[in-house]
Amino acid sequence: MNITKICCIGAGYVGGPTMSVIAQKCPHITVTIVDINEARIAAWNDSDLTKLPVYEPGLAEVVAEARGRNLFFSTDVDTAIAEADMVFISVNTPTKTYGKGKGMAADLKFIELCARQIAAAATSDKIVVEKSTLPVRTAEALKSILHNTGNGVNFHILSNPEFLAEGTAVQDLHNPDRVLIGGETPEAVNALVDIYATWVPRERVLTTNLWSSELSKLTANAFLAQRVSSINAISELCERTGANVDEVSRAIGTDSRIGSKFLKASVGFGGSCFQKDILNLVYIARSYGLHEVAHYWEQVIIMNDHQKQRFADNIVQTMYNTVSGKKIAFLGWAFKKDTNDTRESAAIYVADSLLDEEANIIVYDPKVSAKQIYADLDYLCTRSPEENRRLVTVIETPYEAIQGAHAIAVLTEWDEFKGYDWKRIKDNMMKPAFVFDGRKLLANNNLSDIGFNYYAIGE
Ligand code: UDX
Ligand code: ADP
Repeated sequence: MNITKICCIGAGYVGGPTMSVIAQKCPHITVTIVDINEARIAAWNDSDLTKLPVYEPGLAEVVAEARGRNLFFSTDVDTAIAEADMVFISVNTPTKTYGKGKGMAADLKFIELCARQIAAAATSDKIVVEKSTLPVRTAEALKSILHNTGNGVNFHILSNPEFLAEGTAVQDLHNPDRVLIGGETPEAVNALVDIYATWVPRERVLTTNLWSSELSKLTANAFLAQRVSSINAISELCERTGANVDEVSRAIGTDSRIGSKFLKASVGFGGSCFQKDILNLVYIARSYGLHEVAHYWEQVIIMNDHQKQRFADNIVQTMYNTVSGKKIAFLGWAFKKDTNDTRESAAIYVADSLLDEEANIIVYDPKVSAKQIYADLDYLCTRSPEENRRLVTVIETPYEAIQGAHAIAVLTEWDEFKGYDWKRIKDNMMKPAFVFDGRKLLANNNLSDIGFNYYAIGE
């Protein structure tokens, strides 16, 4: 099976960077990324590369190299499907907000719509690749929809989960630890292996059956999230006992059986994957009657919710049990540094909790827009949009955001925060000047010596 044309449905945080890198590395393949969101496609096509809808270090350079050569962004979904040999499905799979499995299961309505659209638009045989994270055995549903169209077209289904992390997406795509491809037809599997083998060493391209591939994605994210919740559980114990969580992380991380990565205590993990994938795992386990398995993984989420809540509670308690009318400056809103993505960011939940206590919140994030911040708060439906805009102000310069604040809360580990003039910041704040560091980012900035009341997670 010789692939010369690829279509990717979904121009988001996964589809955009992944397909841009495939196009960059495979100039002989024409890659068209389609999306129903016209504004998003217009932004991907913008001649000003700072306007790309996804902020990722190095991505603008990749797009600049391939766009217009063999990389195209379009809203014409049907044409791109009809012309392609291989169709990637990279649409969002949010947690269901209604009906059975509400708050737990993945909402597969976007995937099903895609399958039906592929079935309707296809006039020649196609390899269909699941890129979005999906519950185990979703490929079965895809197969059933595609194989029952009766238009004589053959479809081969592959699962090719994405392991890139936001903020390092381009690096992860250029040099992945592994690429995973699950499938039943060897020819179709090999066609995709050949594409990745253009730049990834063959031994790093793993092939499995469909269900192992689907389950491996959920399991990888569950294990990573579990490490964060494990170290966060220890961070609370550190705060009570006088141990320092960074020292504990370093001490255990040097054990080669444990390893040093994903042991950074924080205000809680966020992002579009960890919580969603664990909830999915829990839901699947429960649906097979595996209650102990479900209960085990659910604890990872419970610990994460606790970590966010106790960070907010600590701010209130430390500030004499009231933050009503006080100005609290948030440094960072994104769920991690080097991305403009805010999905499930701890900042949203910490803000919500402080707003319940009638705090005034001033937000500064180098990459997140005011529109996104208000949308995140409005989505919670805790208070009216007018109330959110009355209590929360978004400011584009950090020193202005901090002016006259009673406290600073560090929610995202942006490197630039470490380089600020902290003496100047203290001089412009209300006294005592509090800093609550949810990332243990400013541990080496000597804030206590400068005169701050400095509180860091796990210390
Ligand atoms: C994750 C997986 O890493 C990736 O393989 C998968 O494809 C998608 O989900 P992502 O959510 O983009 O990637 O970022 P990741 O680096 O995993 O961080 C997730 C959250 O955990 C962030 O909020 C981050 O701040 C937090 N985290 C991570 C910690 O609090 N401590 C750590 O040690 C690591
Ligand atoms: P991810 O992080 O998984 O990439 P995003 O929400 O960033 O998720 O991107 C998913 C994209 O898929 C969105 O831009 C959305 O408009 C697009 N999308 C969803 N359903 C369809 C569809 N049926 N056809 C085309 N695009 C779709």
